[in-house]
Amino acid sequence: MAMRILSGIQPSGNLHVGNYFGMIQPAIALQDEGEAFYFIANYHALTSLRDPEALRQNSRQVAVDFLACGFEPERGALFLQSDVPSVTELAWILATVAPMGLLERAHSYKDKLARGMSASAGLFTYPVLMAADILIYDSDVVPVGKDQKQHIEITRDLAVKMNEQYGSVFKLPEARIKEATETVPGIDGQKMSKSYGNTIDIFGPEKETRKRVMSIVSDSKPIEAPKEPLMSTIFQLYSLVASEDEIEQMRGKFLQGGTGYGDFKKQLFEKLWSYFEPMRKRREEILQDPEYVDKVLARGAERANQEADKVMARVRAAVGL
Ligand code: ADP
Ligand code: TRP
Repeated sequence: MAMRILSGIQPSGNLHVGNYFGMIQPAIALQDEGEAFYFIANYHALTSLRDPEALRQNSRQVAVDFLACGFEPERGALFLQSDVPSVTELAWILATVAPMGLLERAHSYKDKLARGMSASAGLFTYPVLMAADILIYDSDVVPVGKDQKQHIEITRDLAVKMNEQYGSVFKLPEARIKEATETVPGIDGQKMSKSYGNTIDIFGPEKETRKRVMSIVSDSKPIEAPKEPLMSTIFQLYSLVASEDEIEQMRGKFLQGGTGYGDFKKQLFEKLWSYFEPMRKRREEILQDPEYVDKVLARGAERANQEADKVMARVRAAVGL
């Protein structure tokens, strides 16, 4: 049987460079190793987004962006989480074995409360729905950024609990985290994240993108001074989009001194802009053909439901429903 690769992304805003290098690019590369199921986590997004029109639009936009980034839907499935409603049934069943303590230890829940989100039951049980997303397709591998690692561990814990209680119901999935890009820095040097307002969007307008790059925070070393490449957000981001030769050249100029941060930022902007050029073109084409996106999502939902139905039949029988 082909390896099942599964991942999801919340439609909670524009995709940024951190999302791309932390999750989208590795997920798209993994298509070569098995059948990839990628979905837009719109049930999850309800924990933070309560504007129906915005949710619909963002969901569609993330689907378009995923295709523009190179996902080939014929080789896998791209779908909306809510087109497989049985995943919420599985989430309920998993919730009945999920220890409160396990969920209380979840970093993402604590972080979200610390950022002022209200403590809804949905936010608290977020990892249980995520476990259902993964287990319902007998997933083998889950490509995600580092911040999702604990969620995959919780998923495994719940699968083990179910297997102990009911016999072997679930396959144990593994996280696949790309170390080189596990934490892409934002323009303030912290982890790039929508919630920190420090993102550079992958499909933002040119002027805005340039402005964001030019406002990357750097230290106050004068032009003549030698600079430390590895500590610099500019250099770290440049390393993601430039060739090895170009990276070496920039490293040399940092160490040598004589070049100001403003110049390095300009070089970074040029590289970043041309890196995403083919994807921007593809995105324009896709936007011209809304029916194509509808078809991709409909076909994806059909394929995903086929797999989910099989696993759910097994789960219902195992627990006695
Ligand atoms: P955000 O933090 O902007 O809200 P999400 O939590 O929606 O982003 O993340 C979507 C995916 O992108 C996840 O798999 C996450 O691990 C990955 N990701 C997000 N930000 C980064 C980053 N700065 N570096 C690496 N991966 C990231
Ligand atoms: N929690 C993930 C995020 O915020 C999105 C997600 C939901 C997901 N369900 C998933 C990722 C299942 C991988 C597998 O980025």
